[in-house]
Amino acid sequence: MSNWLEVTAHDDVPEDDVMGVQTAGKDLALYSVDGQVYATDNICTHGHARLCDGFLDGFEIECPLHQGKFDIRDGRPMCEPVTEAVRTYPVKIEGGRVFVDVS
Ligand code: FES
Repeated sequence: MSNWLEVTAHDDVPEDDVMGVQTAGKDLALYSVDGQVYATDNICTHGHARLCDGFLDGFEIECPLHQGKFDIRDGRPMCEPVTEAVRTYPVKIEGGRVFVDVS
């Protein structure tokens, strides 16, 4: 069953960049690339760093702590030292608002 959470306004998600949102006990990172919004867990799977403090290059988010990288589309690890995928979430835009399915 899906559990869509309204997280922010679409306009608030910076294009080709990352932002953090905290909602309903979740710490999420939101990304906008080519007008499409993506969502992942905000905490790196390697250590306690927030991906929203990292650097987005195309579809890759670089962790600010040890420069591990994830693909934001499916969460797969792209470079050492990260080996475990970061969770990704379905996103939809409705009425100018961003919804994330955290089920
Ligand atoms: Fe993210 Fe180490 S905490 S790469």
